[in-house]
Amino acid sequence: MYICIEGIDGAGKSTQCKLLKTWLDKNGYKASIITEPTNSPIGKLIRKILSEPAPINDNQQKILGLLFAADRLLLKDKIQKAEDEGTVLISDRCFYSSIAYQEPEDWIREINKFAKKPEIVILLDIKPSKAKERFDGLEKFEEESFLKKVRRKYLKIAEKEDFFIVDANRGINIIQWDIRRIIAPSLGICQDNIP
Ligand code: ADP
Ligand code: TYD
Repeated sequence: MYICIEGIDGAGKSTQCKLLKTWLDKNGYKASIITEPTNSPIGKLIRKILSEPAPINDNQQKILGLLFAADRLLLKDKIQKAEDEGTVLISDRCFYSSIAYQEPEDWIREINKFAKKPEIVILLDIKPSKAKERFDGLEKFEEESFLKKVRRKYLKIAEKEDFFIVDANRGINIIQWDIRRIIAPSLGICQDNIP
């Protein structure tokens, strides 16, 4: 099974992915986390561009869109292998991040058309002001006004694509329990094992 946790920067995705993996391991599942951008040379190039101080223009935003799409394709074999082996894959972001952060949407969908679609997508929805308290804001895309726009886009996609939406303004454990409640039925895990 391929599960994706989405949300703006600082929503708590990587924290929740790790907790979810620990819980799945405890319940006897083989679980593994994948992260986008990846650690590949393309992922490293993306992180370098994101950390550069100069503002990003329209052309560079498109270049990033292409790099994210290419980086994502590198994961395809890994996802397939995990599915064949019955591993639960927990993905910290997927192609929906590109739809939320890059534009125009029709082009982003086109260049990501070979990306694997997760079975379950959970959107950690958080107020950008709250999310900003949780990170340093030094990377591109971390400005509050931009994050407001990305949050609105996520909520729009969530409605169209039937994401599960979890209120991520709350404490770490409460959010995790909501996530477990969403995942449990698909894996046949008893609700008593959630907290
Ligand atoms: P993301 O991967 O979405 O950017 P992280 O999981 O890295 O978010 O969390 C960013 C920071 O916020 C980390 O220092 C983490 O410990 C903290 N954090 C995560 N979730 C919460 C929460 N629900 N409440 C308070 N702090 C949190
Ligand atoms: P990430 O390391 O997940 O940031 P965070 O942990 O703060 O949420 O991602 C780095 C940045 O890349 C983040 O600002 C979101 C952006 N991003 C895109 O713009 N498009 C994409 O397709 C992906 C995967 C990430």
